[in-house]
Amino acid sequence: AVSGMTARGAFIVFEGVDRCGKTTQTQRLVAALQSRKVDVELCRFPDRTTATGKIIDSYLKNGVELDDHAVHLLFSANRWESAQAIRKKLAAGTTLIVDRYAHSGVCFSAAKQGMDIEWCKAPDAGLPAPDAVIFLKLAIADAMKRGQFGEERYEKQDFQTKVLDNFMQMKTDSWRVIDAKRPIDAIAEEIETLALDIINSCADKPLETLWK
Ligand code: TMP
Repeated sequence: AVSGMTARGAFIVFEGVDRCGKTTQTQRLVAALQSRKVDVELCRFPDRTTATGKIIDSYLKNGVELDDHAVHLLFSANRWESAQAIRKKLAAGTTLIVDRYAHSGVCFSAAKQGMDIEWCKAPDAGLPAPDAVIFLKLAIADAMKRGQFGEERYEKQDFQTKVLDNFMQMKTDSWRVIDAKRPIDAIAEEIETLALDIINSCADKPLETLWK
């Protein structure tokens, strides 16, 4: 970074199937970075607190039924609602650790009948792009052994298997794939090292946009 200017924050997204440990690991990482005095914030999508987020929450809890295309656009709109704030925070030097983002948007919707990846990608084009995607890879059989699988709409074996296939299709060489079957502490240590490296390396790189 140029001296006298604030290095921008890193935009680090965690992805994976349900129960892969994303929420635990994003929380652990934020705590670890805070203890190193890194300016950092945790975000998650869907953000269930906004107007679109409330409809999404009700949909996920099977409270309302929505057309597959319509709910896909709501998930995307839910990210667009945060896009300006994300850009501002990154520019001000805050690193954002994000629990799910556009890749979940595409991979979950495209697991439904008649929804293809290209159509699903379109509404997110132009959003701020993550500097890194950390993918917590876990077999569905192992995810199912963990608690609470089956409470929300998408938490079903066949569906999650399709989601995982979609993630594998979308994966690029730049994704950092983590074996999520290991003990929590070992994973957390690996991720902390990775995150510090990402924060350093993106400080003087411009933020990109999806889907480039
Ligand atoms: P959560 O468990 O991380 O809160 O995510 C809720 C569910 O929503 C999860 O099954 C993944 C799904 N999802 C989508 O279908 N589209 C999206 O754009 C996002 C962010 C999540």
